[in-house]
Amino acid sequence: MHKTRDSFGSKFGAIAALAGSAVGLGNIWKFPYEAGNNGGGAFLIIYIFFTLAIGLPIMLSEFALGRRGQQNAFGTFKTLAPGSKWYLFGLLSIIAAAFILSFYGTVSGWTLEYVWLAISGAFHHQTAEGIHDTFNTFISHPYKAVIWQVSFMVITGAIIVAGVKKGIERYTKMMMPVLFVIVILLGIRASTLPGAGEGLKFLFYPDFSKLTGQSVLSALGQAFFSLSLGMGVLLTYASYIRKTENLAHISLQVITTDTLVAILSGIAILPAVFSFGIDPQAGPGLVFLTLPQVFQSMPLGYFWAILFFILLTFAALTSAISLMEVVVAYLVEEKKMSRLKATITTTSGIGLLGIFCTLSFGPLQNIRFFGLSIFDTFDFVSSNILLPLGGILICIFAGWRLDKSILCDEISNEGRLKFKFFRLYAFILKYVAPICIFVILLNSMGILK
Ligand code: PFF
Repeated sequence: MHKTRDSFGSKFGAIAALAGSAVGLGNIWKFPYEAGNNGGGAFLIIYIFFTLAIGLPIMLSEFALGRRGQQNAFGTFKTLAPGSKWYLFGLLSIIAAAFILSFYGTVSGWTLEYVWLAISGAFHHQTAEGIHDTFNTFISHPYKAVIWQVSFMVITGAIIVAGVKKGIERYTKMMMPVLFVIVILLGIRASTLPGAGEGLKFLFYPDFSKLTGQSVLSALGQAFFSLSLGMGVLLTYASYIRKTENLAHISLQVITTDTLVAILSGIAILPAVFSFGIDPQAGPGLVFLTLPQVFQSMPLGYFWAILFFILLTFAALTSAISLMEVVVAYLVEEKKMSRLKATITTTSGIGLLGIFCTLSFGPLQNIRFFGLSIFDTFDFVSSNILLPLGGILICIFAGWRLDKSILCDEISNEGRLKFKFFRLYAFILKYVAPICIFVILLNSMGILK
């Protein structure tokens, strides 16, 4: 079975797919508003610290486990820990991926509507209020947002069905470089707006007085979310990486790309927020409310707007593909479905769940769990509970349960590569990362103050 397994055809293809998974709405849509909510520069510092100190070792471990297992998340744990219940963790991560994709599809649907709005010139000569109204009317519409969300899921499914090399790799290789260039250009434009200095100060000046336990948790949740950690995505993709590639290098490249795009997005969005007097705590709508105003003030703004929302859609798509692949790989390999059937099942199931998230901005907005809407509940449970929990379990599995020599073999390509930091890495994996995540989790649940 392993011989005929699809895989990434090149190193660049693997990095594009992995970075494509990491770089997504989390960077462009979520990071700037999380930073805005949590004291800007102080949040950024903690975020980068978590990314390097905890994210990097966990990512490397997921890569090692996935490439060793050569299967979907469930099968990998079954093979690496036979006779144990670890496969349940594999199952949990598959469920978590489905959860995330449900609410991810909602915002991805919004991006498609915004591509359309940009093309039809809807932002032209609009006042700030008009732009607000457009957004609020759209997200609360009884079916418009659902149509876009479902369309987005179908596009994701169409790429997935083509396979790893001909679908995932081929499309992410085209989309990622374009995305990178556009975000740089937008950053340059936004930071030269009048009053932009305020926004840059907000992003980079660390105001630690604004940091709370909750913001530390958000920084950790954001790092996990942004790096696609702890939910079987990296593990599944790693099973398609060739045995000759250097996993440590790939982790570093993916992490650098992801962090750079998050910072660049902050640079593209926050100065504009200040320049136009928008509240940086506007939440999920920030990018949809801010950037249409930036485009109006730019020469060729009409084209920039189209380009940007296409970028956002690409970013969302490459991440959604990775989430869907976790579920599809499981259904194909464990439930013996054809790739087509597995994709149709996944697209319909997650699409349906996502409809509830989408409608929670409109007709279902009164359904609340502990005060949170359906969308916010999905987001909170997955980013702040399931992902950190997945992270701890990866640390326990790779750090304690798995034979160290397996990990070492996989990272060093059976001893062919040097990995100087193995002891530091193993120490962080065994002690520092799980304890850190655990304390933050307890704090978020109010058990530890
Ligand atoms: N990393 C993606 C982003 O930043 O938008 C979202 C994501 C993809 C989260 C895959 C989790 C995941 F497993």
